[in-house]
Amino acid sequence: MITLPDCQALDARDPLRQLRLKFAQPTEDTIYLDGNSVGAMPADAPQRVQDLMTRGWRDARRRGWSHFDWMEKPWLLGEAVAHLLGAGPHDVIFCDNTSVNLFKLLAYACKLQPQRPVIVTQRHNFPTDVYVAQGLAHLLDGRVSVRFIDHPDELPAALGPDVGVVYLSHVDYRSSYRWPMRQANEAIHRCGALAFWDLSHVAGAIAVSLEDDGADFAVGCGYKYLCGGPGAPAWLYVHPQHQEKEWPAIAGWMGHQDVFAFAPDYEPLSGVRRHLTGSPSILANQAMSAAADIWKTVQPADLNWKHQSLSELLVHLLQQRCADLGVVVTSPMDYSQRGGHLTFSHPGAGSVTEALLAHGVVSSFRKPDSIRFGLSPMALSHVDLWNAVDRLVHVLQSGVWQDSRFAKVSV
Ligand SMILES: Cc1ncc(COP(=O)(O)O)c(C=O)c1O
Repeated sequence: MITLPDCQALDARDPLRQLRLKFAQPTEDTIYLDGNSVGAMPADAPQRVQDLMTRGWRDARRRGWSHFDWMEKPWLLGEAVAHLLGAGPHDVIFCDNTSVNLFKLLAYACKLQPQRPVIVTQRHNFPTDVYVAQGLAHLLDGRVSVRFIDHPDELPAALGPDVGVVYLSHVDYRSSYRWPMRQANEAIHRCGALAFWDLSHVAGAIAVSLEDDGADFAVGCGYKYLCGGPGAPAWLYVHPQHQEKEWPAIAGWMGHQDVFAFAPDYEPLSGVRRHLTGSPSILANQAMSAAADIWKTVQPADLNWKHQSLSELLVHLLQQRCADLGVVVTSPMDYSQRGGHLTFSHPGAGSVTEALLAHGVVSSFRKPDSIRFGLSPMALSHVDLWNAVDRLVHVLQSGVWQDSRFAKVSV
């Protein structure tokens, strides 16, 4: 039996416990378990944005480009998190949103092997991933096509000499299933295709090894576990061996070899930075920099210890305290197959999620009967999970979730 003192003892051993203090606490008594949607706010983010508004916008204006690091931010932010992605410091940049980066890199990857026109992806991949692949096929009038698999086991059979890119979410946004990236990359490369991963439900929760594990391309959101704030820039990664092979899909001036030469013809910037398009989102990058300065100090092993500890604790608490209240953990039981969040089912999941909100626990509902608890290692403690499960037990045991005020489910 796990007790509250056990959770307190885990917190005392938490290598990231000091970093929690660098995040602002919400004003209400809320346990926030939706870092898979919008991550926690670094305590100094408002001041940084305020400084930019006054010193940057009000005072410097155009001179801000040379007085501040507005131009450099996209790669400085990349350098701050690259070690947690297992990428070289010059192989990651922050720019645009995830959907745009998916498009840019998918088009780039397809261009590398035009004789292999098939993109393999999961039918139940996150919708934007599927739409971007379908949109690219549409744009190219069928010169590339999308082949769907319904289940990870179907990947080997889908691979063939016509496949150019395998394009997957490392972690499923509903079940939290985590692909074994190294094994998948090996199979993908054996068939001659390139491996492209969406790490939105991993980055900032679990450290990964993109380069060692053989990923060719990757993208992810900045506003989820990476704590960059609403509307934060997304990131993209290109393996060094592919960086100089082609023009980017959007040949914008910020990806030109000499931005301020205003040259009449496009010439790609060397390396991953050619995928920059136009002016960076300076305000969003400024908010993101608050988190980036924290990420610089995080060791991958500490992040992984904390995430695994939170995830295993939650499985045990749900089984121990909620199994006879209709809760079934539906994420994989093997930790190595789980990503950032943990998913469980309950027949009244939508109303339970609403009732939890009213009891100060922010989680998310996915149809038809799933609840996701996002486990942000930076922002959460083990005692937070104890308290959240305590409130869940109350909501279920009292039957309050069946109250008519919880019938309508919010986003
Ligand atoms: C796996 C995954 N990919 C992409 C996105 C969309 O990202 P963006 O809104 O930055 O385009 C999301 C959003 O939740 C996501 O979960």
